[in-house]
Amino acid sequence: MNSIFYKLGGAITILFLVVLLPLSFVILEIFHHYNDTHLKEETEEMAAQYAVLLSSEDKAEIEKLVDSISETKREIIVFDQAGHVIATSGMEHFTPGKSETGIYTDPSTNRSYLYAEEAMTGTAEKNGAIYVFSPADMMSGSAVRIRNALFLSALGALLLALGFTFIFSRKLTRPLQMMEEAAKKFAHGDLEADVPVATKDELGSLARSMNELARELKMYRDSRREFLSNISHEFRTPLSYIQGYSHALQNGLHQNAEQQQQFITIIHKEANRMNRLIDDLFELSRMEEGRFPLELELVNLGSVAQHAVAKARAHIGEKEITFVTEIEENIPDIVADSFRLEQILMNLLQNAVRYTEHGSVRVKVFAEDGQVKGMVSDTGPGIDSEELPYIFERFYRVEKSRARHFGGTGLGLAIVKQLTELQYGTVDVESHCGAGTTFTLCFPEAREGDE
Ligand SMILES: Nc1ncnc2c1ncn2[C@@H]1O[C@H](COP(=O)(O)OP(=O)(O)OP(=O)(O)O)[C@@H](O)[C@H]1O
Ligand SMILES: [Mg+2]
Repeated sequence: MNSIFYKLGGAITILFLVVLLPLSFVILEIFHHYNDTHLKEETEEMAAQYAVLLSSEDKAEIEKLVDSISETKREIIVFDQAGHVIATSGMEHFTPGKSETGIYTDPSTNRSYLYAEEAMTGTAEKNGAIYVFSPADMMSGSAVRIRNALFLSALGALLLALGFTFIFSRKLTRPLQMMEEAAKKFAHGDLEADVPVATKDELGSLARSMNELARELKMYRDSRREFLSNISHEFRTPLSYIQGYSHALQNGLHQNAEQQQQFITIIHKEANRMNRLIDDLFELSRMEEGRFPLELELVNLGSVAQHAVAKARAHIGEKEITFVTEIEENIPDIVADSFRLEQILMNLLQNAVRYTEHGSVRVKVFAEDGQVKGMVSDTGPGIDSEELPYIFERFYRVEKSRARHFGGTGLGLAIVKQLTELQYGTVDVESHCGAGTTFTLCFPEAREGDE
């Protein structure tokens, strides 16, 4: 009973009745009016005909005729000039009034009649009047036909409306039922279920949205699985180092004090690495959830880059790397968080320094087409074009063992991408194997009124 089918069917039926009932009432009124007029004309005409017919007849003939009339539904009464009844078919109580036509209710039967009077103009003693009575509920043949046609068409319309309601609500509820089934399957984890898109209306677009939702849920589920397996993998390595070396220390497996110190350093390094992993992951997940606080202000990308380069120089160590900076003067400000902007540049610079053995790292900042761009290029080994699309993904490292040797976790570029996009920017990479890599950051120029 709670189904749309019944609700819709009920609503349409009620609507139909609301329209049909007053309409039939009006039509019946018109019909009754037509019938009354028709009956009155008929009665008057009959009275006139009988008057002519009876004018020349004597009493016996008149009584015979009146008898024959009493066989029909109509009644008749004939008065002589003095107002005495000559003959009647049963209207004994009727006394003539002033009007020639009218409604009369017979007190003995309580039936209403429509009557018409007509004067007879025969010989002097017969001059009188004749009254013809037609039952008020009597209908002529055409009136009966009209009434029947009306009833039939009303019935037909009602059946049609019911049939239409049935088909229409079926059409409407069927796809909804299928979507409900699919939604239940989704809830039970069966994301392969597909809702058929049958129409182009709202139901069709709802079905499309549900399929879209299922696809996204599936992607989300897959990426979560992958993410979890990545995390456990990432933690397993440092943990096994820590376990192994602490076990060795515990059991006195080191050969001398120097080796003991070496083991402790490894444990310390791996613990640090795990710490960094947790920090980075936590930061990334907050960025992805949009719960990452940024202190946006007007910032000059050039001066932030200069700072970052100065810091990066300190990390070159033994490597023969030269820094080249090309920072345009008077570049427009951008809207960003200067601390996070420096973090982005530091990540890119660290990569450049880490993966380049010797050569140069170039930092360029300039304005172009309403945008402020920052480029970090190196002359390092480059990244294979097949790997390039994935380097911004979490935990993705081009050469796993080598990157690990460098201390990388594969989260740096994922953080760069998230941070850049949170600050309305984009990050792109261009690289050729053996010829170095260039990362380009693009931020929209701050407009007037930006704070
Ligand atoms: N400038 C570069 N030259 C060559 N390869 C690079 C360069 N930058 C990044 N890569 C490759 O892309 C991978 C992903 O870089 P990303 O910065 O995300 O991780 P990571 O440097 O390994 O670790 P993390 O930055 O978290 O310490 C790196 O492991 C490296 O293989
Ligand atoms: Mg990195």
